[in-house]
Amino acid sequence: MGNVAVGVAVIGAAAVVGVAALVVRQQMKSSGSWARAMAIVKEFEEKCGTSDVKLKQVADAMTVEMHAGLASEGGSKLKMLISFVDNLPTGDEKGVFYALDLGGTNFRVLRVQLGGKEGGIVHQEFAEASIPPALMTGSSAALFDYIAEKLANFVDKEEKIFHQPPGRQRELGFTFSFPVMQTSIDSGTLIRWTKGFSIDDMVGQDVVAELTKALQRKGVEMRVSALVNDTIGTLAGGKYANKDVDVAVILGTGTNAAYVEHAQAIPKWHGPLPNSGEMVINMEWGNFRSSHLPLTDYDHALDVESLNPGEQIFEKITSGMYLGEILRRVLLRIAEEASFFGDDVPPKLKIPFVLRTPEMSAMHQDTSSDLRVVGVKMKDILEISNTSLKQRRVVVELCNIVATRGARLAAAGILGVLKKMGRDTLRDGGPEKTVIAMDGGLYEHYTEYRNCLENTLSELLGEEIASSIVTEHSNDGSGIGAALLAASHSQYLEDKSR
Ligand code: BGC
Repeated sequence: MGNVAVGVAVIGAAAVVGVAALVVRQQMKSSGSWARAMAIVKEFEEKCGTSDVKLKQVADAMTVEMHAGLASEGGSKLKMLISFVDNLPTGDEKGVFYALDLGGTNFRVLRVQLGGKEGGIVHQEFAEASIPPALMTGSSAALFDYIAEKLANFVDKEEKIFHQPPGRQRELGFTFSFPVMQTSIDSGTLIRWTKGFSIDDMVGQDVVAELTKALQRKGVEMRVSALVNDTIGTLAGGKYANKDVDVAVILGTGTNAAYVEHAQAIPKWHGPLPNSGEMVINMEWGNFRSSHLPLTDYDHALDVESLNPGEQIFEKITSGMYLGEILRRVLLRIAEEASFFGDDVPPKLKIPFVLRTPEMSAMHQDTSSDLRVVGVKMKDILEISNTSLKQRRVVVELCNIVATRGARLAAAGILGVLKKMGRDTLRDGGPEKTVIAMDGGLYEHYTEYRNCLENTLSELLGEEIASSIVTEHSNDGSGIGAALLAASHSQYLEDKSR
């Protein structure tokens, strides 16, 4: 009996030693994994660095590219597209106008009644619908038919408060937020798609002609009087509300900027000099690229696997379509190389674009002491349960790195535009007031991003100049702006009875 008891005790002791060794090994393994994960995070942070010196280099490169793009067609990665808008709305515009806004995940139709100087915007109504993903990569006819049908339904609901003069054709401003080579205010051909759209039969086609055909197919009696980019619409809408608006920036699914240029400073413009002496330029800054941009391996991989490799590099590190995806890629790497979420890599983490920027923003802005929102999002979206507070903190840190880089680079882009306009230095009589109309879901809803952008811009400009530069949210300025431009280019403009 005694021997047996000793034997059991020995086996028991050996088992205890074994378990202890396993625990220690496990701990060593997990602390090694943790260290590895932290090393990956640190390296990522360093590569995303945006010192003020770097941002100034980015701004200077932006200014240089702006000159090159204005000098000749194809002279730069920045297309610097001529919008054919040489007069921004004055406030005299009158009548009922429609706008159609296509350019991201959602599209909107809008109806406004403009009341001229005294009346302003008398009535406005809008409807919104999402674009079914299949239509983003299908045929142009399918996409335009879908839009035309939604517009037809909206027109059917026009009420009497909108005073449409009898016998008059309805007019529409079309905000089409992709790079378009305009041939006039109401025509232009699509250069290429961005933001996950890829419809081959549309590239090189006249956008207005395609929409007009679809409107006819759906029986909508309407003339497209203005074709504009969302930045141009935002600038026009912004100017209508505040005459100091001279720049518009979109930070949404994609990103871009437009500004008012002296027509004489556009060597590639061979048309007649506009009376105003000005021309609005759609920069297409999303396609900006420079050796000064802090790009990481994650960005290169995202770009290579995208629908438009080699294009829209600035957009791919600053805009809403991509920020969540960059975060996913870093999380996947720490899961794979440092077992950050345990021995198995969570399968959901492998799905491209599963982590969207609004969710990233919610995690980044989680103020609860236990980072509850982060925990819930990790579970709901990525099916990773029971994350520790330590892990959640790392997730928030990664959100911060990705958003900070994007916001600071966007600020540098704005500085580049202000430099080109000569608004970044003091002039005789003090600094000139410049208002930048801002729009897009990223700017509107991601507070950390917006604050970082605005603080960085002030920091880069210096206190005195910063006091004369104002960023202003122009809510749905692009839709109103397109309607205003349709009004100022109306076929009935000579008819003073309006
Ligand atoms: C498009 C621009 C557009 C911007 C913001 C970019 O992807 O190329 O035309 O203005 O997104 O919507």
